[in-house]
Amino acid sequence: MARRKYVVGNWKMNGLSAAVADAQAIFAAAADHGGVDVAICPPFTLIGALVAAAPGAAVGGQDCHSAASGAFTGSVAAPMLADAGATLVIVGHSERREGCGESDADVRAKAEAALAARLAVILCVGEPHEVRESGGAIDYVLAQIAGSVPDDFAADRLAIAYEPIWAIGTGLVPTVADVAAMHGAIRGALAVRFGGAAQDMRILYGGSVNGDNAAELLDAGDVDGALVGGASLTAAKFVPIVAAAAAL
Ligand code: PGA
Repeated sequence: MARRKYVVGNWKMNGLSAAVADAQAIFAAAADHGGVDVAICPPFTLIGALVAAAPGAAVGGQDCHSAASGAFTGSVAAPMLADAGATLVIVGHSERREGCGESDADVRAKAEAALAARLAVILCVGEPHEVRESGGAIDYVLAQIAGSVPDDFAADRLAIAYEPIWAIGTGLVPTVADVAAMHGAIRGALAVRFGGAAQDMRILYGGSVNGDNAAELLDAGDVDGALVGGASLTAAKFVPIVAAAAAL
């Protein structure tokens, strides 16, 4: 099965009601690029509005709790995301691993909860700058994969996003060779654990992807798409990334 390119916008803590129009413009333009899967993960507060404004479009959460319900003030459960019309969720973003102290075990539990709620999962991994500098990036990321990827899922329901922490929101990106080496190592580790199914799992790159660098990053070996933060907030910035994916 050929892996379709997958371009996902992570709006983070950005977007009020007026941003629904941006999402509509993105999904409308994305429809012209039929070979690419496009999703937007807005803040929780906008999920329902995006689903209503763009029926059939892929809208996701940016996090979920590992429990299906309960006394967890401020948290959102995976079944709630599905009930709001979301079809996917990001788990393990470095801003949650670092900012909220989420461990690999926490991330795995969230991914399992999401899969149980029939959400597709984008599971993030990535090394801090000092680990990249010390030459330990691949070992670090493969340990995150070992600890946070669940055992049981359909290959098309869980994608990995490799996001070097030092590349997120900084304008810095790894070399294409480094991206290809990391993605190849991730695919190799997935193949050891999951066999042939690893060939059907998508591995996205994230970290300062924009319309100028998307084509070469998306063309790197074992790169099946992009997880995009800052450049996903408007159609003017995001659609060129979708177009770059479609052109490959
Ligand atoms: P960025 O964020 O594109 O703004 O670097 C990517 C991400 O954190 O998912």
